[in-house]
Amino acid sequence: MSGPSLLVLYGSQTGTAQDTAYRIGRQAQRRHLKVRVLPLDGYNVAELISESLVVFVCSTTGQGDPPDNMKNFWRFLFRKSLPVGSLSCLDCAVLGLGDSSYPKFNFVAKKLHKRLLQLGAGMLIPVGLGDDQHDLGPDAVIDPWLRSFWEKVLVLYPSVSNMEPLREDEPLPPSYTFQFLDEETDQTEVLLRINSEQTGPSEFRPFPARMLSNRRVTEPSHFQDVRLMEFDISGSNIEFAAGDIVRIRPQNSAEDVQLFCQLLRLDPDSRFTLRATDDAPVPARLPQPCSVRHLVERYLDIAAVPRRSFFELLSGFATNELERDKLAEFSSAAGQDQLHSYCNRPRRTALEVLSDFPHTTAEIKVDHLLDLFPEIQPRSFSIASSLKVHPNRLQILVAVVLYRSKLFKPRRGLCSSWLASLDPEQGEVRVPLWVKKGSLRFPKELETPVILVGPGTGVAPFRSALQERVSEGKTANVLFFGCRSESKDFYFRSEWEDMMKAGNLRLFTAFSRDQEEKVYVQHRVRENTALLWELMTNKNACFYIAGNAKQMPAAVCDALKEALQQEGGVSAEEAEQMLAAMEKTGRLQSETWS
Ligand code: 2AM
Repeated sequence: MSGPSLLVLYGSQTGTAQDTAYRIGRQAQRRHLKVRVLPLDGYNVAELISESLVVFVCSTTGQGDPPDNMKNFWRFLFRKSLPVGSLSCLDCAVLGLGDSSYPKFNFVAKKLHKRLLQLGAGMLIPVGLGDDQHDLGPDAVIDPWLRSFWEKVLVLYPSVSNMEPLREDEPLPPSYTFQFLDEETDQTEVLLRINSEQTGPSEFRPFPARMLSNRRVTEPSHFQDVRLMEFDISGSNIEFAAGDIVRIRPQNSAEDVQLFCQLLRLDPDSRFTLRATDDAPVPARLPQPCSVRHLVERYLDIAAVPRRSFFELLSGFATNELERDKLAEFSSAAGQDQLHSYCNRPRRTALEVLSDFPHTTAEIKVDHLLDLFPEIQPRSFSIASSLKVHPNRLQILVAVVLYRSKLFKPRRGLCSSWLASLDPEQGEVRVPLWVKKGSLRFPKELETPVILVGPGTGVAPFRSALQERVSEGKTANVLFFGCRSESKDFYFRSEWEDMMKAGNLRLFTAFSRDQEEKVYVQHRVRENTALLWELMTNKNACFYIAGNAKQMPAAVCDALKEALQQEGGVSAEEAEQMLAAMEKTGRLQSETWS
């Protein structure tokens, strides 16, 4: 492709900014610009000085922080040593995604715009402030912003404006082409591009761990299915400590793969090699050659709720008038409300959308599959066992995600339901996994007590920590555990009882639904202020919170503050400062997930 080159850099937490970045990338392609779309931390920032045209698309998280995949860039950009004027060759624009119901609305985009100006960059247009609270969603601001952006670019690069842009309803050239192989060709699949010098298992070379057990730990009558799963990791070189995390990339179910292939008229057993059409690298995780089944089962995220750009791309294949009109509506700025009601609210999956648009789906060209569907992302689980107590084993506690939406079929979490469906008693089951350092750190000193607050599956990292600590002779352990009912979801009860008998654990439980009034872990924290004060002030205890209840961590922190006020006679402000100081020194740590 000829013409100038555009770089689109994004910082995205939930994927909206990423989706917008890719939309801009496609708009650029239609305008004959050479384009690269990259996450900010996937780009070597030092190279910015040699770029000419850059769009930054950044969301702001709830507290006014940048998303995780731009944290390194953020630190780099605000270095005092960066000379003013260092970006004077650059033309750029900043597009923010935020929510005006939060006080720090689009803080990251505004601050970035200012900083780029300071470094001498030419800002083509004012910062765009996409707003989730807008009736029509962030695109109500983004679409007009993009129109003015393109107007500016066309003035800057007249060579672009001389060329007729590609029509919106024409599919763009795909990033890859598929070359199908005939039967006789070599049948061995090899992962060619992995780095063989790497030590231990990693994202690109996960360890195929044998699943040893997959046991339900909630009563059969309880509404929630929670599993304790055990894997054999012997020979893997995997090492982990309490607080570490295992990463598992789920797979699509055999039925979904079959339905997908049927809808797209693909033979799952056919095999292909992939060629990049531009300088995009061929995904390192895909074997070459690869079967269609492997690609659909392990790579394409067909179970996620698709975003606007999916509809834009899909509409390029529509020949059926009804389907074409509907897809065009979902792709337009005016149709975002309808798209939300059709897709996001009921949590409709990409595969379900394809079933709703069968004519268009049958027209999809296989070369476009990697542009249409994102890669399946790995999920994280806190490791629930200790290597010291269970050598060569790794255990996790998994709540099987299942909920109702407006749709007839219940919604399932891809990873948890895939894991739950595996049955090692029916034959050998292997789950590819790798391990990552977690953020929780437990004290090394023998006498330092730990206070662990872990309701529900939040207890997982604490089970690992307690097993490890007890095996090392660390006996000062306090656990606050909360669940719905003593008889239904009290995980690891007998293990805690054994630890208590041996004098290694003090346990406080909160069974939220065993009585009229809700009782939560924070209530138990409030009832034990004297003990907490004693441990925290006289014994230098460390306090930990883990779990997935949205409001729980803040509620527990409030209870802790009250404990400090009550027992230490300090003011609310002082208690707040004490907590902040504890957080800084690692004596108050939390790991929460949603
Ligand atoms: P509930 O579902 O009965 O409200 C593990 O999920 C436990 O955490 C359950 O007993 C659940 O109670 C409880 N939980 C829910 N919301 C909570 C909150 N805000 N603070 C503390 N615990 C909570």
